[in-house]
Amino acid sequence: MATSKRNTADSYTLRARKEGYPARSVYKLEEIQKVFRIIRPGAKVLDVGAAPGSWTLYVHREILKGKGSIVAVDLNPLSLNPLPPSVMEFTGDAFSEDIRSLLVVNGPYDAIISDAAPMTTGNRMVDVARSENLAESVLSLAREHLKPHGNLVIKIFQGGGHNAVLADVKKYFIKSKTFKPAACRSDSFETYIIGLDLKKEVMEKG
Ligand SMILES: C[S@@+](CC[C@H](N)C(=O)[O-])C[C@H]1O[C@@H](n2cnc3c(N)ncnc32)[C@H](O)[C@@H]1O
Repeated sequence: MATSKRNTADSYTLRARKEGYPARSVYKLEEIQKVFRIIRPGAKVLDVGAAPGSWTLYVHREILKGKGSIVAVDLNPLSLNPLPPSVMEFTGDAFSEDIRSLLVVNGPYDAIISDAAPMTTGNRMVDVARSENLAESVLSLAREHLKPHGNLVIKIFQGGGHNAVLADVKKYFIKSKTFKPAACRSDSFETYIIGLDLKKEVMEKG
């Protein structure tokens, strides 16, 4: 059982290589998009924790197809060369004052997608707590920069307060759900919180 799951994971990596994506994580977003239709053609999208760039490239290639735009932000530069024409890239901490002001200027967004993850330490409690902090920061970003009726995807490590983050997302979105794509590695404790249709009254002043 474990062996066949590991083989499945390897096949995602091979497929990503063949299709020109820098990371296998692209198939997690593909699945999320197929189930929830988070992003519509023509949308303005914010991709948080975007490097090396698979999600960004997938949105550009498969969803926007020349209509719409993506703001991609990460601590590290994307490895997309050339950068697709619909993409504007910012390198830095998505939650720093400097980057936040750039996000304000370029927003608001129809969808915010975050695959952001902390550097793991191997100590599950520490890693989970850091992931939760990131997830809460992304939610706060969404409350400032997402358009009413916009959609949200947040990666979070399970095991700590992931239900508390889900409860917060529930407050602000008409529909919310936890979703673990099949493309997640079998030994990974990551999952995704999906928020659909941001309630109008929760928009904060940007
Ligand atoms: C799993 S990778 C994202 C993979 C990406 N979705 C793709 O498909 O190529 C997680 C990323 O989150 C980024 N990250 C973590 N904390 C961040 C922060 N505060 N601001 C911006 N990026 C952050 C890391 O630098 C890392 O590149």
